[in-house]
Amino acid sequence: MSNFWKKLSKPFTALAPMDGVTDFVFREIVCEIAKPDVLFTEFTPTDAIVSKGYNRVIGNLKYSEKQRLIVAQIWGIHPENFYKTAKLCKNLKFDGIDINMGCPDKNVVKIGSGAALINNKKLAEEIIKATKKGAGNIPVSVKTRIGFAEVVTENWISFLLKQDIDAISIHGRTAKEMSKGRADWDEIAKTVKLRDTLSPKTVIIGNGDVLSYKEVLEKSEKYGVDGVMIGRGIFSNPWIFEKTQNPLSHSTEEHLRLLTKHTKLFCDTYRNEKDFNTMKKFFKIYVRSFRGAGKIKKQLMECKNHEDVERVVLPYLSNLTTP
Ligand SMILES: Cc1cc2nc3c(=O)[nH]c(=O)nc-3n(C[C@H](O)[C@H](O)[C@H](O)COP(=O)(O)O)c2cc1C
Repeated sequence: MSNFWKKLSKPFTALAPMDGVTDFVFREIVCEIAKPDVLFTEFTPTDAIVSKGYNRVIGNLKYSEKQRLIVAQIWGIHPENFYKTAKLCKNLKFDGIDINMGCPDKNVVKIGSGAALINNKKLAEEIIKATKKGAGNIPVSVKTRIGFAEVVTENWISFLLKQDIDAISIHGRTAKEMSKGRADWDEIAKTVKLRDTLSPKTVIIGNGDVLSYKEVLEKSEKYGVDGVMIGRGIFSNPWIFEKTQNPLSHSTEEHLRLLTKHTKLFCDTYRNEKDFNTMKKFFKIYVRSFRGAGKIKKQLMECKNHEDVERVVLPYLSNLTTP
């Protein structure tokens, strides 16, 4: 397996890992309509993967060939579990393995994992070493933030760059900031400068508040990043990865057809594995900014399966298409 990070033409795009959002089905939908260059799985707990929690979380590591380049994101606290999970990801033929060192969720941080690793370099180093050992020749990356409680970009990123990792995705906020305020792209630019001196081969991916492909080009030009990662921007435009400076406008009909497709794939794939309510948080992506959207959304919230969704959407679609 080669290090794909080095071969990507710049600036490349990546769909951010988002727990409860970028699952197998949503990634299939995104790949079908406007595919980013790199996709990440939702973060997957290494402790569960190596224990009886396996059946509960292994679904996070399901992907299809269509989703390549696909990177497995993993999190945890015990280096030996990172080693075993990385080995599993290698056997599953992922293109890359990414270590989460940025999650600010209190359940993750309170056990010393995710963003808490920014304050524990010794453990961070052991985790990276163990993951690299398990990954063999698969590239290993880290996704992180510019600090935990305070901005410590220089200190933290210099440390990471000395660990011989293939890529770093950097979200321009501290963990304490969660998603509040604006992402600080000047700090992301500092990361690029540090990289240039400390580890020129490490790829830098900037992340935070990007809402269009035009902005991908602007950010990479202005701040020097090799690639740009987009998370929440996909909620306002599922076609966000269309590589065009002037975003095409997608009709209400296209949005609603995509909603029915997504819902059907969700039901066919997850059957009883995931509650249908999980699907409901995606509705707002497709049902927005058109006359009658509020009414449809209300009806959709009552649905229990994809047949119900079609019963709501199809009559509306036939009204749209009849002259
Ligand atoms: C619902 C949700 C779930 C997230 N889950 C993860 C995750 O599993 N792993 C991770 O590294 N970051 C996670 N993040 C953070 C995003 O990957 C990204 O860094 C953050 O949203 C900032 O990028 P954006 O402004 O483009 O959304 C999540 C964010 C959201 C909104």
